[in-house]
Amino acid sequence: MNIRIRFSILLLVLSSSFSLQAQNTNQANATESLPADYLPASFHAGRREALRALMPEKSVMLVLAYPTRTFSNDVDYFYHANPDMYYFSGYKEPHSLLLIFKEPQTDSTGKTYSELLFVQKRNAQAEQWTGRRLGTEGAGTKLGITASFNGEAFKDFSIDFSKFNKIIYDRFPADVPNGSDKADLFDLIQQFKQKAGVPESLAGQTRFDTRLYRELTGKLREIKTPEEMVLLRKAVEISCQGQNEVMKAMRPDMSELEIQGLHEYVHKKYGAEEVGYGSIIGAGENGCVLHYEENTKTRIGNSMVLMDVGAEYHGYTADVTRTVPASGKFSAEEKIIYNLVYEAQEAAFKKLKDGASWSDAGTAAREVLADGLLKNGIIKDKKEVGKYYPHGLSHHIGLDVHDRGTSQVLKKDMVITIEPGIYIPEGSNCDKKWWGIAVRIEDDALITQNGYELLSAWAPRKAEDVEKMVSQKSAVDDFKLAPLHTTPKKAF
Ligand code: GLY
Ligand code: MN
Ligand code: MN
Repeated sequence: MNIRIRFSILLLVLSSSFSLQAQNTNQANATESLPADYLPASFHAGRREALRALMPEKSVMLVLAYPTRTFSNDVDYFYHANPDMYYFSGYKEPHSLLLIFKEPQTDSTGKTYSELLFVQKRNAQAEQWTGRRLGTEGAGTKLGITASFNGEAFKDFSIDFSKFNKIIYDRFPADVPNGSDKADLFDLIQQFKQKAGVPESLAGQTRFDTRLYRELTGKLREIKTPEEMVLLRKAVEISCQGQNEVMKAMRPDMSELEIQGLHEYVHKKYGAEEVGYGSIIGAGENGCVLHYEENTKTRIGNSMVLMDVGAEYHGYTADVTRTVPASGKFSAEEKIIYNLVYEAQEAAFKKLKDGASWSDAGTAAREVLADGLLKNGIIKDKKEVGKYYPHGLSHHIGLDVHDRGTSQVLKKDMVITIEPGIYIPEGSNCDKKWWGIAVRIEDDALITQNGYELLSAWAPRKAEDVEKMVSQKSAVDDFKLAPLHTTPKKAF
């Protein structure tokens, strides 16, 4: 994954001239200038209640923060919260731990609690360097979790784990750095293992359960609540607006990086903080690398450009791909392959509805692709379809781009991708005229009782509509930066 790339300069230059208007995404909180549409504490509390309803009698579930990661020397990668921690608490900082109890617990003073949150301790000096911390007070007032403690209190916190029939947790991350802070994530994990008596091996016992963690969190996260849908819809629409603006701006002398920058600028203009995965901008043959993230081609030329880019808005990520002719017109061969992928997508859409088998959509898309490849002489037998279509059709999206959940039966309020593709690298065993063609069309669909809603309908999919969009004038057509100098600047 790429680290978060900062577009502040581009942002400064473009923000006055760009024609897009960010709607409702930057409604400022008068005192703090923060977005007003973060998920409220009541959402997270509701998710904890829904989890408790699924948890077995006498059980406790542990949710850990993600570890921090080194990018370079003393610089960390941008920190991304563990989606489970965010989902169940709203807490987004590292070095933290959440315990959710099935039954209310009572402490030695007679106070009851249903969850315990251990957070990073406030530290003025650290906060000056690495950002503000919520602390226990903020966890109480902003997240509504009053049973919040500094991480260092966990070591001596009295919890009798022996009374639980089930201790539910995710597999521990293998590479957690052990820093000098005695209450960092490394220490919290060690202390939990010791307190709960986690055995070396889980074989042959059922009390410590990592499988159940995935099952329960998947059951909840695969069905999106109305509050989540507000954010997910926004993430998808923003991603589509990025696709549209880039289609309009696309010219053969652009680089893949420049195109990535434009997408991500549009995301940020609309208030999406991150991308949900490294942006994939593959011109020509580069589109054949399914998760191509280098984006280093300096001139896209007249090839097609496969752009798989998802805005992450308040934690929720879209996953939208458009494949676009930089010249403005698909060549004859490109159009044949493009339309084949389009028809495969259409065939899959027809299979979507509450209660349908998920694999029916996959089979329908695969059949169309296999028939088309065979008809055009690209394969000799339909069984060879996997050579040029090497991935599946669908996955959930949400707090993860490949979101957690089941994949057998489609259910109302699931949000899934539909993403057929054909990739024909140079040297493939077919006529050379097909070489270097890579097409993926990826859309995000909300499953409804009788069908689906295409959340990503904001960006064109039909070949003719894509060509039309490319021909439109763009706000950045006249945006020219001065060339960089090749000689040193003379001293004053
Ligand atoms: N962008 C990754 C995927 O389509 O699954
Ligand atoms: Mn996808
Ligand atoms: Mn994708």
